[in-house]
Amino acid sequence: MLNDISELRKQIEQDITAIASNGGPESFRLKHLVRKGTIAQLFDRLREVPKEEKREVGQALNELRTLAEGALAEAQASVAAAQPTERVDVTLPGRTLYRGHPHPIMAAKERMEEIFVRMGFAIATGPIVEDDYHNFEALNFTPDHPARDMQDTFFVKVGDRDDIVLRTHTSPVQIRVMQSQKPPIRAIMPGRVYRNEAVSARALAEFHQVEGLYIDRGVTMAQLKGTLFEFAKAYYSADVQFRFRPSYFPFTEPSAEIDISCFLCGGAGCKICKGSGWLEIGGCGMVHPNVLRNCGIDPEIYSGYAFGMGIERTEMLRMGLDDIRVLYENDVRLLEQA
Ligand code: DAH
Repeated sequence: MLNDISELRKQIEQDITAIASNGGPESFRLKHLVRKGTIAQLFDRLREVPKEEKREVGQALNELRTLAEGALAEAQASVAAAQPTERVDVTLPGRTLYRGHPHPIMAAKERMEEIFVRMGFAIATGPIVEDDYHNFEALNFTPDHPARDMQDTFFVKVGDRDDIVLRTHTSPVQIRVMQSQKPPIRAIMPGRVYRNEAVSARALAEFHQVEGLYIDRGVTMAQLKGTLFEFAKAYYSADVQFRFRPSYFPFTEPSAEIDISCFLCGGAGCKICKGSGWLEIGGCGMVHPNVLRNCGIDPEIYSGYAFGMGIERTEMLRMGLDDIRVLYENDVRLLEQA
């Protein structure tokens, strides 16, 4: 019996050294430490052992069991330690990457472009640093025209020229388009403009406009109104109300301001529309004969309309903002609303 025990001990010691490669602690346990395992089988034979040897044999068996149990516990612990605590669940759906998107103002510009392009307008651009001629004079602002004061201007020193400005509106692009193309002309001209103005809740010194121009034979104010009304329905909502209010611009005659019904209160009057039920989104009119003439277009043959809208302002209204400056604070909560 003692022989068998020491045989088994040798076997167990061998198994302990090879525990990892022999199927791990669980195989070891199943072979030696379960009810029908090798050690238990020897314990069963304790009955046959003569009384005077029982003590010695029993002790040897107990030592063997302690050895095996200790080795098992150690092996189990080292397997557990090697186990990563966080496991990769390959069945989880992947996380969507945050891709970013255009700024609300660029998104608004693109939406406007899309609507006008669908109506057959081309997109034109021009320089931001302009000369007085394109920004004012060709648009029928004579040198001492009081309307020049309507647009506080940033002047730029370029060499010894004193007629260079940051364009105060996108209307100079009209001039450039008419100078370089023959009617029929149908284009919109989005872009950045500058005004020497104190920044406030309602005004920025740097903002964006979209200009529109249509020159052909027999263009009428009714077409202007119809086009802008269609735009307003597509951009704001299908049930928007629309009106022209008489106004003045040097480069159009007659001129009008464009109002839409307040989409927040539906025209009943609220904080955004200041109780009037109407929101102003831009100016427009029939291109002044002097402007056509300045661009080499005969006003006896051609007529045309023009319009201009501020993008920040229209977007501010659409988003229901009461402070235009938040558009440029880059607060992600606002940017995500584009
Ligand atoms: N240029 C004008 C401004 O910035 C807006 C404007 C009004 C543009 C009437 C036009 C127009 O083309 O016809 O205040």
